[in-house]
Amino acid sequence: MARESESGLPIEPVYGPQALQGWDPAEKLGEPGEFPYTRGVYPSMYTGRPWTMRQYAGFGTAAESNARYRQLIAHGTTGLSVAFDLPTQMGHDSDAPIAHGEVGKVGVAIDSVEDMRVLFGGIPLDRVSTSMTINAPAAPLLLLYQLVAEEQGVGADRLTGTIQNDVLKEYIARGTYIFPPKPSLRLIADTFRYCRAEIPRWNTISISGYHMAEAGASPAQEIAFTLADGIEYVRTAVAAGMDVDDFAPRLSFFFVARTTILEEVAKFRAARRIWARVMREEFGARNPKSLMLRFHTQTAGVQLTAQQPEVNLVRVAVQGLAAVLGGTQSLHTNSFDEAIALPTDRSARLALRTQQVLAYETDVTATVDPFAGSYVVERMTDDLEAAAVALMDRVEDLGGAVEAIEQGFQKGEIERNAYRIAQETDSGERVVVGVNRFRLDEEEPYEPLRVDPAIEARQAERLAELRAERDRPAVDAALAALKKAAEGDDNVLHPMKEALRARATVGEVCNALREVWGAYVPSDAF
Ligand code: 3HC
Repeated sequence: MARESESGLPIEPVYGPQALQGWDPAEKLGEPGEFPYTRGVYPSMYTGRPWTMRQYAGFGTAAESNARYRQLIAHGTTGLSVAFDLPTQMGHDSDAPIAHGEVGKVGVAIDSVEDMRVLFGGIPLDRVSTSMTINAPAAPLLLLYQLVAEEQGVGADRLTGTIQNDVLKEYIARGTYIFPPKPSLRLIADTFRYCRAEIPRWNTISISGYHMAEAGASPAQEIAFTLADGIEYVRTAVAAGMDVDDFAPRLSFFFVARTTILEEVAKFRAARRIWARVMREEFGARNPKSLMLRFHTQTAGVQLTAQQPEVNLVRVAVQGLAAVLGGTQSLHTNSFDEAIALPTDRSARLALRTQQVLAYETDVTATVDPFAGSYVVERMTDDLEAAAVALMDRVEDLGGAVEAIEQGFQKGEIERNAYRIAQETDSGERVVVGVNRFRLDEEEPYEPLRVDPAIEARQAERLAELRAERDRPAVDAALAALKKAAEGDDNVLHPMKEALRARATVGEVCNALREVWGAYVPSDAF
């Protein structure tokens, strides 16, 4: 009897040649590094260069996070990935009343250029690529990074990295939006244009399905809704007058890797193929780089368990393997204790070691796209592609991603799937080792890492000093210029950079924009 995949597609007990009847490898696969990129975006893939080992990290103050980054670099990480605390992600300063209790908790608190300088102290920004998980306030954080690079004598043309900058999925699944969709999209288009001119190697967005998957999306939903968001961004930038090949090469993506290896590999391959076709056929992109779906992967946090947490090490290894077999460009492997608390130094190191084992002790990096031609994986790739395209068509029928978001479509679909997963887990039909099977009578004790609550007061003191020292009239004038640009059509990033240089805070910059653009209030459909 066929088993159902996570997307609800059949997985037969045995596959043979009949599974691929009429299947044309030239059409479906091509060569690695060539259209439709099913086999990967680079001809040599990991035989040329391993994926980037990019561990998401950050907590407490800039100084503490800086110490963690230096440690990760010493242990062999090959890219940085900054986690910001919630107030920063929502565009509030650490001393804003709304920030109380959240400063430095789920990431690092960054209020101004002073904090950013400490965060990257001793880290040469021309030699590391940095991802920043920041969405609504992506522009000010990117500009702070550029300002710190300038202080280090590193020109913007040498900076490499990524801002998440994907506000559409914030409305769908993650929640750290500030402005309504229209001005948010305008800010994103301004950022594309700014980066094209000023920071050409920067990946301007990381269009993310990860958070939808964490909220319960199936693999088919994950890629469908993510690619639909991608289409919306492309349309926005084209409507703002940009040539598709001027910005599309710097679009990037972000997906989850679950323990269901076969379907996950099929998902990554299907996503590459769909994107290449959409970019070529719908948007007329000509530059091969515009057609390539390059992506980061994080192992599925939602599959980790607080019970018998060491078992998570095994899950993460399996999930990481799925990402690598699927051709990821960059990978974060979760720490085994992430379901309980912030990772300790030791667990963060073990997570990185997991990637190093995959890269240097297995043979999966010795040959490109090892699953190509597999009856089951090719069949699943085709099935997932069809399922995702059908869902993307439904989004189109509703008027595109923003319209569908406003009608609550993606969120509703994801919630339905989350409910199904919860029911299957409760009934025991879905096995979760250590939770609904193979339990221990008594869990072993575990000592989690805790963030020092005094951080909030320290950060507030730093801000008070900054506000006392800086040239207030210059800050006010710069913020007024920013508001003027936001009211009209000028690119807001130029005055924003001047305001940040004058030591305006992230909160002040976001408040200036809030005054002009308003704040988003979700509709009832949510
Ligand atoms: N042959 C030739 N060249 C190769 C190659 C090969 N085999 N492999 C790599 N290269 C080249 C690339 O062309 C590139 O050069 P270029 O910039 O001049 O084009 C360079 O080597 C670097 O390679 P990649 O671009 O493949 O890898 P990067 O690591 O630099 O970029 C990315 C990967 C996916 C495009 C990028 O967007 C990225 O790094 N994303 C990371 C996103 C991230 O970390 N997000 C964290 C999210 S956590 C979160 O959301 C929090 C919570 O809520 C869960």
